[in-house]
Amino acid sequence: MITNDIAQAVAALASGKLCAIPTETVYGLAANALDESAVLRVFTAKDRPADHPLIVHVATAQDANEWIAELPQWAIDLTAAVWPGPLTIVGTRTALASDLVTGGQGTVAVRVPSHPVAQELLGKLKMQGVQGLVAPSANRFGHVSPTNASHVLADLGEYLSTNDDLILDGGDCQVGLESTIVLATGPEPVILRPGAITLADIERITGVAVATTSTDAPRVSGSLDSHYSPLAKVVLIDAESTIEFGSAAGFLALAQVPTPTGLLRLGSPATIDDFAHELYGCLRAGDDLNLETIYVVQPVGQGLAQAINDRLQRAAF
Ligand code: TXA
Ligand code: MG
Repeated sequence: MITNDIAQAVAALASGKLCAIPTETVYGLAANALDESAVLRVFTAKDRPADHPLIVHVATAQDANEWIAELPQWAIDLTAAVWPGPLTIVGTRTALASDLVTGGQGTVAVRVPSHPVAQELLGKLKMQGVQGLVAPSANRFGHVSPTNASHVLADLGEYLSTNDDLILDGGDCQVGLESTIVLATGPEPVILRPGAITLADIERITGVAVATTSTDAPRVSGSLDSHYSPLAKVVLIDAESTIEFGSAAGFLALAQVPTPTGLLRLGSPATIDDFAHELYGCLRAGDDLNLETIYVVQPVGQGLAQAINDRLQRAAF
């Protein structure tokens, strides 16, 4: 079921099978976006509520125009600068985007991933007439997103093997956090989910100030208060914390923060980028060790640190 043969994945996806695919952010559970029964199975496999919209993945910014009816100039500039890359744009949908994909909303989310395996896969599928892949993160709904093929196997292996679906192994995801989602239906960008493309990046590239609130905020499942959660309880602490730590507890912080006595260190990322890259693997490792609690010292700062803290706060909720 796990393969690194891109041609095999192309054939499977073109014939209605599901295939977990590597992207630079996290692994996605992909299906042909125009194959209703395959898309329905994505919801079943993940145990995802039917009204949560999916992201359509395409090979190039040009291909995104088949799914998004129109974009403001700032969004055209943003996609030209960032795609392929860890950015999802939500825009007014075309007729191609079904209610199943959009959750019945008038908008559709589209992204052009940069992972070379995803790029090759999408390019080859396009030549076979497949115009896009839906690909929510390849985890059970509400769980931690997968950043390598064995994470996908742990969450969805049983479903995928039973149904003769695939996992395309492209190694570790480079970023490790889901894409930045930007709403592009108005005069200003609205960030629906922070990620590796930061607010500062968006303002620098577009020359437009990011709006702080949306008047008609669409649904984003990653914005539920509790999401991205391991089984262990995640507790956010200060570096100087002197609380009494229970048994069977793990610890995650930047490398310069020493390990409190009695805690099992799950990771020592040297940089903020490393923190994002290792975060989900560390949370999953805590579950593999049957830890009851994982104490985390949040990284400080703007940019990617904000995206990490967004996920940590939801994991801790
Ligand atoms: O990095 C990523 O974006 C990964 C990789 C696999 O591409 N995908 C991902 O998919 O994180 P998912 O389904 O786990 O998260 C997609 C988010 C959901 O929270 C969903 O609600 C939101 O995108 N979304 C999709 N369509 C939307 C729309 N029309 N309006 C607002 N939010 C939308
Ligand atoms: Mg997800």
